[in-house]
Order: sequence, then C-alpha cells, then structure tokens
Amino acid sequence: MVQKLIEKFKELYGGEGEIRGYFAPGRVNLIGEHTDYNGGHVFPCALTIGTYGIVRNREDRRIRFYSVNFEKLGVIETSLDDLVSSKEAGWTNYPKGVMWAFEKRGMKLSHGLDVLIYGDIPNGSGLSSSASLEVLTGLILKETYGFDVSMVDIALIGQDSENNFNGCNCGIMDQFASAMGKKDNAIFLDTNTLKYEYAPVVLEDAKIVITNSKVKHSLVDSAYNDRRNECEQALKELQEAVDIQTLGDLTEEEFEAHKDAIDSEVCRKRAKHAVYENQRAIRAVEALKAGEIGTFGELMNASHVSLRDDYEVSCEEIDILVDLAWKIPGVIGSRITGGGFGGCTVSIVKNDAVDTFIDSIGKAYQEKVGHEAEFYVVEIGDGGHVI
Ligand code: GLA
Repeated sequence: MVQKLIEKFKELYGGEGEIRGYFAPGRVNLIGEHTDYNGGHVFPCALTIGTYGIVRNREDRRIRFYSVNFEKLGVIETSLDDLVSSKEAGWTNYPKGVMWAFEKRGMKLSHGLDVLIYGDIPNGSGLSSSASLEVLTGLILKETYGFDVSMVDIALIGQDSENNFNGCNCGIMDQFASAMGKKDNAIFLDTNTLKYEYAPVVLEDAKIVITNSKVKHSLVDSAYNDRRNECEQALKELQEAVDIQTLGDLTEEEFEAHKDAIDSEVCRKRAKHAVYENQRAIRAVEALKAGEIGTFGELMNASHVSLRDDYEVSCEEIDILVDLAWKIPGVIGSRITGGGFGGCTVSIVKNDAVDTFIDSIGKAYQEKVGHEAEFYVVEIGDGGHVI
C-alpha cells in the first residue's frame, strides 16, 4: 500500500530526493459523547484505518497537494505565503490550517513541500477523517522542520486549526485520539485537565463492530454549535447556584439538586446529558478494568438513550440500527458514536454473533431505510507515526 503511494508520488512529482511517509488514524469513541467541550471524560480509541501522507521537501515556498481520494481535483498548489482558508482550496484547507496554526505559534516553515495524501476512512462516516488529516499534517511538520512539539501539542494545534481556520467548533477528543492512540487500548481522557490514562480493551470473546448508516444530515455543524451554546447557557445559570467551572464538575446528585437553576427545559436536558454521560464514562472505564463487560455494555446503551432523548443528536436511521442491534443475542452494547445526526454506531458483539449481526441488521436496515449499511469489524491501532 505505502509502496503504491510512493510510486504514485514519483509519477506525479518526479522520483528525485528523499521521500518520507507518515500515518495518522481515525477514531471511534466507546463512551463519553459530547462531553469533551463540557469539561468531562471521553473514552475513544484510534483505529487502524486513517490517513497516509507521502512528502518531499522543496527548496522554494510552494506547496503542492494531491489526494488519491480526490483524483479529479488533480494537484492543488499554494504557497507558504498564502495560508488563508478559501472555498477553492477544498480539502487542502485542513493541512493549510495546521500550517497556519504552527506559524501562528512562531514555528516558521522555512521551505515548501510536495505532499500526497490517501485516506482509507469511509467518507463522511464520522470516524474523524479530518482530525486524522490534521494530526498527520502536524506530524509531518514536526518531523520535517524539527519542531519541538509533543503529540499532545499536535492534537491541540489540530483542534485550533479546526476551530479557527476551518470554522468547526469541535472539542479535543478526535485529534487527541488520533495523535495519542495506542494499539489495543482506549484512552480515558479528562478533557478538563488533559490528564489521560490508557485502558487495555480486553474483550476476550467479543469484537468492536462499527456500523455506518451512510447518512449525514446537513444540520451536523449548526446543531453541534447549538448544543455547545445550550450547554454554555446551562452552565452559566448553574454557576449562580453552585461553585463549578464546567458541567463535568457535577455528580448526578449535585445536578439534580441544582437543576432548577436552569431556566429552559431544553438547556436542562442538554446539561443533564453532559453530567450523566461524564459519570457513565467514568463508571464504564472502571467496569472495563474490572472485566465487567456486561456493565460496560449497559452503560453504552444508556449513553445512546441519553443522546437520543436528552441531547437529541441521533436520527431515525441511527436509531433503527441501534434498536436492531439491541435485539440480537450476543450484542453487549450498542450506541451512536461521534458528533451525531448520522454517521456510525459502535457495538460490542460476541464473536459468535458477529455474522448474524451483520447479516440480519444489514437486511433489516436495507428494507427499512432503502439503502445499505456498512459494517467494519475493527482493531484498535496506534496514534500518528512515521512509516
Ligand atoms: C465530534 C467533535 C468532538 C466531540 C464529538 C462528540 O466528533 O469533533 O470534539 O465533541 O463530536 O462527542
């Protein structure tokens, strides 16, 4: 695969000079959804699918980008003196944003690059293809120019570029998982302090199965920002009643005792999700560590109900997938994963139920929704690295 990409690189840009390769993964979140901008905990893991980058230095200040995924767009050229976002720049706004964010921090890029990108994360699936491209770019810049940045810095720079160059107000989870992933482990991250811990995902006789609904509703970005604003509003009103910095500071009991400080019903429901989901994530990690997979699964199911009813970020197609999954014996837990309004579900499925899971959900979903779902039985991989 990498060899093929190098061949393509040489065909496009010529074969001379030192050519280097990098990879950064996509992620799936097991539990702790919409908590990362509420000072709560998340529990994502890096996947073995992700984004590859093949790179060579240039002597001038030009940057040439090419994506094997968007061959029709051909080579897209820009320069280090033109790190501004534009519609015409398309997907290259992601790497450009990261370059912009490095320069903003005083890390000047002294020469241009030729870059070839290839990603094997299904398009628009909500498995963080954009975060993986940001982390990949951060890694390329660190290695190419010798910048003294850690992988956590690269995650933060990626988030900054996404927030302030690409206009999506995401939290830190996706970039953190892509940068800091560890094979066979999920990352238990406190998004308030960025303290983290790896927890081995030992499922023994079960697998992680991702189901792609293959729908993406157009409200993703605007509704995401609405949820953020509603949580901020709820926090502000709660702070009148109780001394907290974030919603993640509250236990369920504390929330119940003070929830009437929140004026609107909608904001109360959003805050309730943020508080309860954070506690569920903490409990789920304890359960996993104690080998109580059943409890872990129940918490995943409860997470879905909360995201569906209180946070209202699910949609009909995803609810169909989750309802079907819950009915299959051997499914330990199933829920929506990621930002919502389409995308994927994540399920933990006993090995001997995986075929039935894929077959029966596949058929029923096709019948009910009118198009196919896709299934990926995934492995947990390492974070961004040189290849
Ligand atoms: C998207 C965002 C993340 C996180 C999730 C929801 O993936 O990029 O920061 O907020 O949604 O958990």
